[in-house]
Amino acid sequence: MSSTDDLRARFEGAFGAAPDGVWQAPGRVNLIGEHTDYNEGFVLPFAIDRAARVAVRLRPDSSVRLLSTFGSQGLTTADTGSLDRGTSKGWTRYPLGVLWALQQRGLSVPGLDLLLDSDVPRGAGLSSSHAIECALILALNELTNAGLSPEDMVLATQRAENDFVGAPTGIMDQSASLRGSAGHALFLDCRDRNVRLIPFDAESAGLVMLVIDTRVSHSHAGGGYAARRGSCELGAEVLGVKALRDVDLTDLEEACGLLDPETFRRVRHVVTENDRVLQTVDLLGSSGPRAIGPLLDASHASMRDDFGISCPELDLAVETARSAGAIGARMTGGGFGGSAIALTPVAAEPRVRAAVERAFARAGYTAPDIFSVRTAAGARRVE
Ligand code: GLA
Repeated sequence: MSSTDDLRARFEGAFGAAPDGVWQAPGRVNLIGEHTDYNEGFVLPFAIDRAARVAVRLRPDSSVRLLSTFGSQGLTTADTGSLDRGTSKGWTRYPLGVLWALQQRGLSVPGLDLLLDSDVPRGAGLSSSHAIECALILALNELTNAGLSPEDMVLATQRAENDFVGAPTGIMDQSASLRGSAGHALFLDCRDRNVRLIPFDAESAGLVMLVIDTRVSHSHAGGGYAARRGSCELGAEVLGVKALRDVDLTDLEEACGLLDPETFRRVRHVVTENDRVLQTVDLLGSSGPRAIGPLLDASHASMRDDFGISCPELDLAVETARSAGAIGARMTGGGFGGSAIALTPVAAEPRVRAAVERAFARAGYTAPDIFSVRTAAGARRVE
């Protein structure tokens, strides 16, 4: 990623004046708790040391000019008076979605010039889109004195994703990006939106968190994510509860008799996954990161077998990492592609990397991108 000085200089070159400031928001890895957020359950993500940065200058008119340091999209122009859900493309949907969502809250949104830089890999399941949205909403909150709380910003960016971008996602990703903290995972109760920072320091435990980007690109605006959400809503309706959060492990036997087999498996994933999040929080407190491997493995098996959101590349990454020495591994994020994480003893890192690369080559898959991540601070102004 370019330095803040470079970004400012590029901004001035492109727009002819200095930005009002530069804001940064991280991507996230979800440690555990997948597809539980929109079921009002529990999640445990952390903000990572990969981020989106936006240099922003408010304009006296209603024009919006958007440019990035990457890709081939060039300058995109829009007008705050006619933000169009249908026609915006690529990464510009995210900032335009934020402007639109703020308007839906009744805020008057000024025109702006924006230059984006990001080192969150796109399509890798690490929330590159939310990183952009969170950086911009923070900038606008400050520059326009909108007075939004972190929770307001979480809900506004969810609205941008759901109703502008068309991805029916929950609140996990933006919560991690806005409220994350270095050295911690964020334990979020998606019903009352309370958060608790849980110390998570892999490095001190002699571990490294590897991300294996399978390069199978996914999109939550596609059908699979919405279909899973639909199954969960059906399950809750048949079981007579507000959300699957209200079903616990002891209810599963009865649920099995009431639901069709596929819906039952979807429900079982959510119910057991909520329980795994709670167990992970307890174990991190009592025994530290080395103890959570089996829960990561069980989470992956549940997503593969019950929720049906893994893919052969993710399964191969997880199985290979485990046999080469990772203490636990699972796909992370919405699924159908994207990345797996492998919590790995430092000494085993080279072996895990080499084994996964070899396995992908042998299977004829595109070479994966393997890198380590650390916990990082949440969104903030950097200049
Ligand atoms: C995506 C969504 C989140 C969450 C995860 C699955 O990342 O944006 O809201 O539903 O998938 O856990």
